[in-house]
Amino acid sequence: MTDTRPATDYAMLRRQLTALLDTRDWVTNTSQMAAFIFQQIPDLNWAGFYLQREAHVLRLGPFQGQPACNPIGFDEGVCGSAARTRQTQRVEDVHAFPGHIACDAASRSELVIPLIKNDRLWGVLDLDSPLPGRFTVEDQKGIEALCQVLIEQTDLPDGQ
Ligand code: SME
Repeated sequence: MTDTRPATDYAMLRRQLTALLDTRDWVTNTSQMAAFIFQQIPDLNWAGFYLQREAHVLRLGPFQGQPACNPIGFDEGVCGSAARTRQTQRVEDVHAFPGHIACDAASRSELVIPLIKNDRLWGVLDLDSPLPGRFTVEDQKGIEALCQVLIEQTDLPDGQ
């Protein structure tokens, strides 16, 4: 990663996102959040959602960036690993991740956060960067906190 990028103010982003997500509608809120993250967090080439609309399959949801792979099984890629394990996947070098799915050849590092509400895995948030090692532990914590805003402020029904 670069040493020159100023630290992202995740506390401020959390306040802004809390105000931005002013409906309970999942289509609106995930669309707004994908655009917000893509605009506000530097050095990303893709930001968006994959949703579990049927068991153990991730379907492409609202996103910013190049058209992307769809669908992704729970046994596939970084997104599938996040969905299967329900653990955030912070991948410093996607080329070293077995089974990584390269939607955009420019991607070098990736952060995938599972979205869990009432013990149900609703989907994942996927961020890609063209920079190796783009995502620090601080980025992970900050973006996980943004995901909590989405989960708390959105109705995430089954099978949507
Ligand atoms: N790289 C992901 C696939 C989704 S794209 O990055 C948008 C993966 O390996 O699951």
